[in-house]
This record gives sequence, C-alpha cells and structure tokens, in this order.
Amino acid sequence: MDNSPINNRVLNNCITRTDVPGTEPPYRGKVRDVYSLNEHTLGIVASDRISAFDHIMKQAIPYKGQILNQLAAFAFEKVDDLVDTHIIDVPHPNVTIAKKCDPVPIEVVIRACLTGHAARVYKSGERTLCGVALPNGMVENQKFDEPILTPATKAEEGHDEDISEKEILERGIVDSEVWEEIRSKAFQVFQRGQEVAQKQGLILVDTKYEFGLHQGEVTLIDEAHTADSSRYFYADGYEKRLKEGKPQKQLSKEFLREWLMEHGFQGKKGQTLPDLPDAFRTKVYNRYAELFAQLTGQSFEPTPVDTDSFDQQIKEIFNQYQ
Ligand SMILES: Nc1ncnc2c1ncn2[C@@H]1O[C@H](COP(=O)(O)OP(=O)(O)OP(=O)(O)O)[C@@H](O)[C@H]1O
Ligand SMILES: [Mg+2]
Repeated sequence: MDNSPINNRVLNNCITRTDVPGTEPPYRGKVRDVYSLNEHTLGIVASDRISAFDHIMKQAIPYKGQILNQLAAFAFEKVDDLVDTHIIDVPHPNVTIAKKCDPVPIEVVIRACLTGHAARVYKSGERTLCGVALPNGMVENQKFDEPILTPATKAEEGHDEDISEKEILERGIVDSEVWEEIRSKAFQVFQRGQEVAQKQGLILVDTKYEFGLHQGEVTLIDEAHTADSSRYFYADGYEKRLKEGKPQKQLSKEFLREWLMEHGFQGKKGQTLPDLPDAFRTKVYNRYAELFAQLTGQSFEPTPVDTDSFDQQIKEIFNQYQ
C-alpha cells in the first residue's frame, strides 16, 4: 500500500510564489517571501522553492516550506535560553512572524568537521581557512578538536566569499563588541545544536547562522539547524566509515547537488538548469520528511494547502499582527 502523501494533485499545488494582498510586495529570497507587516514585524512565508548552487530550481518540492519552517521553529526553541531569536510566533506551518532586524551582512559558518568547502580548500594544500589554521594530516570529514568559525560575506549577487574575523573588524563590517557577542553566541548555539543532534543519532557537521540587531540586541534570524543551512551525518558507523575512507551517510541537500551534477549542472555560466522529474521531486520530499523525523523525533504531518486561497489565508493571519 502506498502511504505517501504525494500525488499528482500535491505535485501541482506547490507554493512557488506568494502575493499576499494588502501589503507592500515582499522581499523574495531564494526560498522565503518576506513581508514587512509594520515597523517592528516581518511575516516570513517559507515557500516550496528549492535552491542549489545559488539557483532556484524550476520545480518546487511539495511541503518543503512547511518542513523547513517547522524545523527552524523547533531549532530556535531549543536555543532560546542562549540567544534572542527573531521568532514572535509560528501561526501556520509555512509562516513565521518575526522581529524585524537589521541584518549583519555576514554568514556565520561554524564547522565541526573537515567537510564540503573546507575539505576542498584543504585538498588544494591550503592550511588556513578564513584566518583559522588547519592542522596537518587531517582526512575528509574528520572532526576538528574544537568547532571552527569560518565566516563569509553575504554577497548581493553570486557566491559568498570567505572572510577572516580580522578582516571583518578591519573593514568595519561589524562593530567589534557586536562581533564578540555574535561569535560567542554562535558557538553556544552550535554546541546546543550538536547536543540536540546527538540525542537523535546525528552529528551536526556544519551550519550557517545569520544574526541581526533588533532594538540594539544581537538576535539570531533567518533559520537555524535546518536541512538548507546545515549538514548532518548519521552518528552510527561514522568512525568506521572515516577509518575506511568511505563517504559519510549524510542528511542534507548534498544529494540534490549530486543529482544536478549528474545532469550536467553545477551552477556555472552557460549550463542549463535541468527540470526535476516528478519522481525525483517525490524523492526529495521523502528525504526532507526523513530529515524532519530524524531531527525532531516526530513524524512530519503535512498540512494540505489550497494554492488558490493560500494568499488570502495568509492575509488573514497577517492581519492579526499588523
Ligand atoms: N528577522 C529578520 N530580520 C531581517 N531580515 C531577515 C530576518 N530573518 C530573515 N531575514 C532575511 O530574509 C531573507 C530570507 O529569505 P531566504 O532565506 O529565501 O533568502 P536567501 O536567498 O537564502 O538569502 P538572500 O536573499 O539574503 O540571498 C534573507 O535575506 C534573510 O537575511
Ligand atoms: Mg536563506
């Protein structure tokens, strides 16, 4: 028996774009439509858009917005004794009402393992990353003695660029006191993320945080510890795979990137973005739902969406906060 909540109707009713009436047009990120509700409040709608290599795919993934928004809400709640978070309310699975912040234009990346970009840099023979010295003799996916902070600038266009903490301060991108608080909070939040993951049999490998200032207070914004902002390994068998030089079992968007590369796309100029077939979109949904269950210990229950009335439904929710 097929218990999958995904069928043709669901595949044809993804939230690809919202136009909530009665507000200013939103800022459209790759995934979220961000509405300004008033001077202090944002209404953030997580759509079903999915991006990879900084490109938005032509097809959306059913319920991905709900999964992502609820994963972020779960993670924010787990850390709200450590840091001010932007959450005011989560009145709908796709919607977060958030404190409007002045974003700090730095991607605060913390890494527990030599994976992804860090591993690529390391393989090229380089032994510093964002001003952090990397020890010799490490292998891909090995844990660092302590997590490291490898920030990147948030580029207006194109890829983000690595930057050292020293340069962040020298260029005056962030005030030094504010930066000190951000780095300290980021490490604390990361440690909590590792503990939460560990209880669920996962290793939090690396993650990206965004911070903002709300009435002068350093605040964790955007999303935290989600599949889009983080990488996880299954803890079971990690050491064995590491010893044998085998790839780790990942819970992340990596499999989408791999699929795209197999289909000739790495986000480079001149390459054509492939269409995602329905069977693959269903598979991506299954991976996101698996990730939700694995991370939260609860199964994901989709809330059916009627795309024709969705904007109106969101408007009524927004009205309560305007
Ligand atoms: N509380 C907040 N206050 C101000 N801005 C926020 C807040 N939370 C999130 N944002 C911003 O809203 C946007 C969320 O949209 P999304 O995650 O889709 O963007 P993105 O494509 O990842 O990033 P960007 O648009 O910055 O390139 C981001 O630009 C993020 O910095
Ligand atoms: Mg984002």
